[in-house]
Formats: sequence, structure tokens, C-alpha cells
Amino acid sequence: MTGKGQVRKVVVLLGSPRRKGNSALLAARIARGARSAGAKVETVFLQDLNIAPCKSCYACQKENSKGCSINDAMQEVYPKLLGAEGWVIASPVYWFTMSAQTKLFMDRCFALLANAKESFAGKRIAIAMSYGDADPFVSGCVNALRTFQDAFRYAGAKIVGMVYGSAFGAGEIRTNEALLKEAEKLGRDLVG
Ligand SMILES: Cc1cc2nc3c(=O)[nH]c(=O)nc-3n(C[C@H](O)[C@H](O)[C@H](O)COP(=O)(O)O)c2cc1C
Repeated sequence: MTGKGQVRKVVVLLGSPRRKGNSALLAARIARGARSAGAKVETVFLQDLNIAPCKSCYACQKENSKGCSINDAMQEVYPKLLGAEGWVIASPVYWFTMSAQTKLFMDRCFALLANAKESFAGKRIAIAMSYGDADPFVSGCVNALRTFQDAFRYAGAKIVGMVYGSAFGAGEIRTNEALLKEAEKLGRDLVG
């Protein structure tokens, strides 16, 4: 099990189509904290990648499986996920839950479950979310947070922390310095 201080590599998954949007800014501050604690950080902008939805073929779960059968950009993401001890998942709230880009990514992580011991056990995960409503419950943010909690508990990975806040226009979250500081601390905690 990877504990504090054993995270050398962090991969950041950006699930908003806004490269400099609110969830991406939160993720950038988590990344800054992780770097300051000594980790190498690589960022993946999911919107740029051609990632198909899971087709429920279950090839990934068969004995001696070579993983997901879909030959698309996710094949470049899997090694990054396996090679990093820390993951940061950043998403806006869309229709009361995570964005479609983030959900596509999550569904395709199903392929890693076949080897959950190597893939998920010991991973340390940070979540960053933003939403337009003032309230995390009314906005639907809590639905997504709950999904991440359930999914990573099931997979055997550890969510180290979650930062989330209200902002509408791209970059508006910049005015919430307290939240950005919290994000930076989460980055340090992710690494230990
Ligand atoms: C398609 C779409 C659906 C949205 N649905 C919600 C919603 O259900 N609840 C909410 O509070 N905000 C909603 N918003 C607002 C975004 O969550 C908000 O602007 C967020 O800060 C965007 O984050 P980003 O800058 O990282 O993309 C929606 C925005 C879009 C474009």
C-alpha cells in the first residue's frame, strides 16, 4: 500500500472542456502542492483525447486479458495511470453530476479492475470540482463526490481529499483564495 511520502508521480486528469476553467485551476493548485512536496506531475486534458465509451464487452475481465479491447487514446492513458502513485481527478458539475468527459474516463477505468491489486491498491486520489450553484448539494456536486467515494472504495484506492467550490465563469474560482490554499495543501497531503 502506498502511504504518505511514497508518491513520486502524480497524474492529473482534467475533465472540463475549459483548459483554464475552475476545476482546472483547482487541479493546478493541487499539482503545485504535489510538486512542492517532491512529486513529478503530468497533466492529461481529457477533452483533447479521443476516448470512446465502454462497450461492455468484458474482454478486460477475462482470464489472461490484455486489458481494454478498445484501441483509442485511453491506451496511452492507462500506462500513465499505472505509473503514478497519485491521481488528481478534476471535473465541473454538469447536470448534477460529473462531466461526460470525466464519466467516460471513469467507465474506461473499469478495465483496470481486473487487476485491481496492482492498479488501484495503494493509489492516492484527490478530487477537485466546481459548480455554478452556490450550494454543493443543490448543484449536484455531492452526487459526483459520492460516486467517486463509492467507486474508489470499491476499487480499493484511497481518496486523500476533495476540494470543491462554487464559480460560474471560467477562472472565477481564482477569487476564492481560501479554497485554492486548501487545494494546494491537498496536493502536499497527496504526496505526504
Ligand atoms: C452543460 C453544463 C451543465 C451544467 N450543469 C450544472 C449543474 O447541474 N449544477 C451546477 O451547479 N452548475 C452546472 N453548470 C455550471 C458549471 O458547473 C460551472 O460553470 C463550473 O464552474 C464549470 O467548471 P469549469 O470551469 O471547470 O468547466 C453547468 C455548466 C454546463 C456547461
